[in-house]
Amino acid sequence: MPETSLVVAPSLLAADFSRLGEQARAVEGAADWLHVDVMDNHFVPNLTIGLPVVQSLTTATTLPLDVHLMIDAPDRWAPGYAELGVYNVSFHVEAAADPVGLAKDLRAIGSRAGLAIDRDTPVEPYLDLLPHFDTLLIMTIKAGFGGQEFMPELLDKVRAARRHLRAGHLELRLEVDGGVNEDTIEAAAQAGADAFVAGTAVYGAADPAGAVRALRRQVEKAAESAS
Ligand code: DX5
Ligand code: ZN
Repeated sequence: MPETSLVVAPSLLAADFSRLGEQARAVEGAADWLHVDVMDNHFVPNLTIGLPVVQSLTTATTLPLDVHLMIDAPDRWAPGYAELGVYNVSFHVEAAADPVGLAKDLRAIGSRAGLAIDRDTPVEPYLDLLPHFDTLLIMTIKAGFGGQEFMPELLDKVRAARRHLRAGHLELRLEVDGGVNEDTIEAAAQAGADAFVAGTAVYGAADPAGAVRALRRQVEKAAESAS
């Protein structure tokens, strides 16, 4: 499946919300996906954007949209995001009534399906669901806010998931989200992640596209030293 060997996905959560289109285009040519955090003030305390803004983003940028739903009742709302034509829709396993049924619906509509695992949720009980998914998003913070510190102990989940994917020859993207920056991305890559969400590290930088390229170089360096 993967179109490139690694994916860097800047998170718009750290961008200037008064000019989201411009901020999305600022990383075109450097980023692989654009990560869009949807928060509903119920599943997480924070509140961000919903369908109308994501719809506008689909025409504002050529980047594939990686929508991360941090919302209650994704079974009800997630298909609407897939219908907008976004590339990938990830929902939280903690919130979904029927994760496999929802993944099937998302794929039938034409998007990729992503399973997201929050800080306090173990990954093992869900490994058997992975054949129904295209991405597995493992939070490296508690979901809800940008700018938090990366939690290296959560990489044990990434290692466990990577072992499982290898053993089962499953081709999922293994995505990490939260506190990813130039100091932490190598550890995430070594643990087995191959998609990296970064908000503050990209949009907090003077040159967002340059920051994406720097993150990619860090991962490539980690891969070289491992080989
Ligand atoms: C937080 C979001 C993240 C957030 C990461 O719940 O899911 O995508 O933007 O931000 P940083 O990279 O600043 O930790
Ligand atoms: Zn996110």
